[in-house]
Amino acid sequence: MTAPVMCVVGARPNFMKMAPLLRALAAHAPPLPSLLLHTGQHYDQDMSHQLFDDLGLPRPDVNLEVGSGSHAVQTAEVMRRFEPALDAHRPSCVVVVGDVNSTLACTLVAVKKGVPVAHVEAGLRSGDRTMPEEINRVLTDQVASRLYTTERSAADNLLREGVPASRICFAGNVMIDSLQASRALARSAADTLRGHGADAALLAQGSGYGVVTLHRPSNVDDPATLAALLDVLAEVAAQLPLVFALHPRTRGNIERYGLLGRLDPQRVALLPPQGYLEMVGLMAGAALVLTDSGGLQEETTALGVPCLTLRENTERPITVEQGTNTLVGRDRAAILHQVAETLAGRGKRGRVPELWDGHAAGRIAADLAQWLAAGAP
Ligand code: UD1
Repeated sequence: MTAPVMCVVGARPNFMKMAPLLRALAAHAPPLPSLLLHTGQHYDQDMSHQLFDDLGLPRPDVNLEVGSGSHAVQTAEVMRRFEPALDAHRPSCVVVVGDVNSTLACTLVAVKKGVPVAHVEAGLRSGDRTMPEEINRVLTDQVASRLYTTERSAADNLLREGVPASRICFAGNVMIDSLQASRALARSAADTLRGHGADAALLAQGSGYGVVTLHRPSNVDDPATLAALLDVLAEVAAQLPLVFALHPRTRGNIERYGLLGRLDPQRVALLPPQGYLEMVGLMAGAALVLTDSGGLQEETTALGVPCLTLRENTERPITVEQGTNTLVGRDRAAILHQVAETLAGRGKRGRVPELWDGHAAGRIAADLAQWLAAGAP
């Protein structure tokens, strides 16, 4: 029996990256046996289970059920629980995706046990080391053996950090594989809003809507910062009704800091975290998206929907250079200016970047098979 490829997921943005990869491993000739391990970093129905269903992900073969905690506790707990799973399954390699705590934790355990690691979505850098994800990216890429990149700038970042070129493979963007596979299945925005009783105010206007997501600690953990951002959103909402899908961290902080009253429910629909098919439908129909998510920056670029990113930097520069993304930070004037431009029909339309073509996972599976056959150097 060939040893399986152990595919690791932990948090919401991992699921859409792994789903096409598992399918591509099975579709490879000959098939590459795989098993799916969920660390349980995200565990809610909204943050995890619903997305498995939407993406057609199989139930995980292993669930470490680590749950929430500080970065140290969460990372340590994944490491502690991942080691025996690795011993029990003896995989040919471990595949990790993205930049969450589970990505780094499983990588560290595997490489120290001599199990080769492949990292999908390698080399992205915001240059901002106050972001926990940036630390996870830099460290994962230093020790992983095979690095699959989504845009060409990622290889430059890796080479600058001393990673040998022989480890890097430009494969394209597996997020877009999922997006393309799901477009036809996406739930219409009208259905989603109606399902949340949000139709009357928002849909009656017929003039479009914007989608908002926020969850970065730098945006939502400090009360004054969060209050100021909500005030800007209220100003935007006066021009364009907003659909705000609330991450649990953000909802918790809005409630804790008593900020719920800042948003007019007639103009802002507050929704729970959305399923994947709902989110794709909401984004595809939106006049614009305001977000601090990495994934949404890419998905809006692929959909041709203008995206205003409420951050000072991005690890995905191609979405700004070629796509529909504009960095606006938390600057009120910049945000309102870009919203006005977009509503006047001058929003970015962009173009779809190289190899964001729906076939990235197939390229990764083919390369992985060759790499394993060569002894995973
Ligand atoms: C994590 C990732 C981030 C990713 C985001 C997507 C890291 C460092 N961060 O951040 O890169 O963009 O996921 O959501 O790995 N919670 C729930 N239910 C859940 C999961 C979390 O209620 O299923 C709540 C808990 O109160 C928890 C908080 O959300 O404390 C934050 O969750 P956590 O996994 O620590 O980080 P995220 O902010 O989600």
